[in-house]
Amino acid sequence: MEFSIKSGSPEKQRSACVVVGVFEPRKLTLAAELLDNAAHNHLTDIIRRGDMEGKAGSTLLLHSVPGTLCDRVLLVGLGKEKEFGDKEFCDAMRSAVRTLNETGAFDGTIFLTETGVRKRTAAWRVRQATIVAQETVYRFDQFKSKKDKVRRPLRKLTFVVDRRNELAGAEQALNQGKAIAEGMFLAKNLANLPGNLCTPAYLAETAQKMALDHKLECQVLERDEMAALGMHSLLSVAKGSQQPPKLIVLQYKGGKSDEQPLVLVGKGVTFDTGGISLKPAAEMDEMKYDMCGAACVLGTIKAAALTKLPINLTVIVPTTENMPGGGASRPGDIVTSMSGQTIEILNTDAEGRLILCDALTYAARFAPEIVIDVATLTGACVIALGQVATGLFANNDALARELLNAGEEAHDRAWQMPLWNDYQDLLKSPFADMANIGGRWGGSITAACFLSRFTRKYVWAHLDIAGTAWKSGAEKGATGRPVPLLMHYLLKRAGKLN
Ligand code: BES
Ligand code: MN
Ligand code: ZN
Repeated sequence: MEFSIKSGSPEKQRSACVVVGVFEPRKLTLAAELLDNAAHNHLTDIIRRGDMEGKAGSTLLLHSVPGTLCDRVLLVGLGKEKEFGDKEFCDAMRSAVRTLNETGAFDGTIFLTETGVRKRTAAWRVRQATIVAQETVYRFDQFKSKKDKVRRPLRKLTFVVDRRNELAGAEQALNQGKAIAEGMFLAKNLANLPGNLCTPAYLAETAQKMALDHKLECQVLERDEMAALGMHSLLSVAKGSQQPPKLIVLQYKGGKSDEQPLVLVGKGVTFDTGGISLKPAAEMDEMKYDMCGAACVLGTIKAAALTKLPINLTVIVPTTENMPGGGASRPGDIVTSMSGQTIEILNTDAEGRLILCDALTYAARFAPEIVIDVATLTGACVIALGQVATGLFANNDALARELLNAGEEAHDRAWQMPLWNDYQDLLKSPFADMANIGGRWGGSITAACFLSRFTRKYVWAHLDIAGTAWKSGAEKGATGRPVPLLMHYLLKRAGKLN
């Protein structure tokens, strides 16, 4: 889809559809009022008849509105003005774009970006609108022989800001929004691909292609190289699979050459059966999403490269399948991680931490300024926070705060959970330095505690995205989260957020 920014009056727009908001109860926004004046109270009349109350989520499409230069006017209900916040703005944009896409309009001129949202700038509204628009038209139908084609799909959106002096900031925000949406698009496509196609080798090829397209440096470590480095925890997960594991490193160098990189580590389990500790059959298909951490960090480095951020960013993706098989790890097996610490594998389904711990030890080689890992790590995190918030753990309060703020700004929120030493005891093993599970209680915390034993050398945060990376049920599909959170964090660091 094409996007542009302008400022101007709604009645003067030559457009297939002009989109304006109505607050509840029956209160026209400024743009709607201007249209109404030009149309000799046509909108007021309609609203008086009771066809548009302004309820959140409602829409009303009008044709041939007098006094205007556009073919159609779309009224979008915004709910109560006092309650119009981040979520309400995104919901209104979503209904607007969905309706436009289902109508015959090829283009739309959207005035919702003029409407004030509590504490938010015009740049924020434009960035968010761009992301929501791309999300709304996203389909994953490459395996459908008969695609339900939209008859006349939406091709172009114009966002209106109310003041000319906001245009430059809005232009920059538009570009950032487009880059974030591109990153999410990549993340969603990789994640939605089934496990028979999205293998560790496929992720490695994707990274190599990205390196060519975006001038990144890519390195892929094979099984023997990982063995030479002592990554026996990571390799123990791959033993049951026919697919060779990979360790992917992708580097973007937009900062000064002597600047320490930020490192993102993404869990890339391309399918998690549980291994010998086999998962139950119900919904096991969703374990193709167990590489969403990998997809997210690849999406984020792509977005960073597209925005030409002046930072150095390194992405590390440990990737493997977790399968049962004659060669698979057994419960009770003991392995030595790259750090030298030994691990008793009491449950082969707690495999994410086993591959991440070696990748996190490897991360220290890059002398990172900070390290953030992203992983669909625990079902317990979904129990704790549902599908709204990502679980955040950190060994540094300043980093935790910055990530929480970035999540708020991006409307892609995280919630901090404790990493207290009191939980560490649960990982005791009678035979090795630690066990890979900590019992039923506080499962997402003990998983984070496990990782913390491999991240003592640097400032680190862990994002558990088990609840936020994909949706189940009728709307099954990857969300592209937390690419927006991470990109907002990077934009803020680079001083590019306004
Ligand atoms: N990939 C799963 C976590 C998961 C489960 C994410 C369900 C989303 C939905 C992870 O590898 C796993 O299996 N974790 C176990 C850990 C347990 C054995 C300590 C879990 O959460 O049950
Ligand atoms: Mn598992
Ligand atoms: Zn897993």
